[in-house]
Amino acid sequence: MSERTLVLVKPDGVARGLVGEVLSRIERKGFTLVALELRTLDRATAESHYGEHAEKPFFGELVDFITSGPLLAAVIEGREAISSWRTMMGATDPAKAAPGTIRGDLATVMSENVSHGSDSPESAAREIALFFPHL
Ligand code: TYD
Ligand code: MG
Repeated sequence: MSERTLVLVKPDGVARGLVGEVLSRIERKGFTLVALELRTLDRATAESHYGEHAEKPFFGELVDFITSGPLLAAVIEGREAISSWRTMMGATDPAKAAPGTIRGDLATVMSENVSHGSDSPESAAREIALFFPHL
C-alpha cells in the first residue's frame, strides 16, 4: 500500500542544476512530497547513511563525494514508492540504466549517479529517521 522512501539528489545533481528535473519527475509520477531540504552532510551522517558499504573499497570516495556539497533530501509517499522510485532511478551503474530512467538519461559514471533511493522498507525507515527524525 502507501509507502514512504528517502530520495536524495546527490551533490553532482545539485551542482548540475538537476533538482528541478528530478522533482518534476516525482511530481508528474504522482508521488506526494512529505519533506524536502537542501543540506550538506557531515561525515558521521554520511557514514551512517551508507553504513552497509563500510567495508567496500569505494566507501571512502563515496563519503568524500556525498559530503562534497549540498544535496537535496526528500521523503516521498505513494503506492509502492520504495520499489517504484528505484525503477524510476534505474540501475546503479548509469551505463546499464535504461533510457527513460534518471540515471539512464542523466549520468555516465557510477560514482556520480545523481540520485539515491532506499532499497527496502527497513532501509527506508532507517534512512528517513536519519535525515528527518521528526517524521
Ligand atoms: P549501492 O547501494 O550499491 O547502489 P544504489 O545507490 O543503487 O542503492 O551503492 C551506493 C552508491 O555507491 C552508488 O549509488 C554509487 C556508489 N558505488 C560506487 O561508487 N562504486 C560501486 O562499485 C558501487 C556498487 C556503488
Ligand atoms: Mg543502495
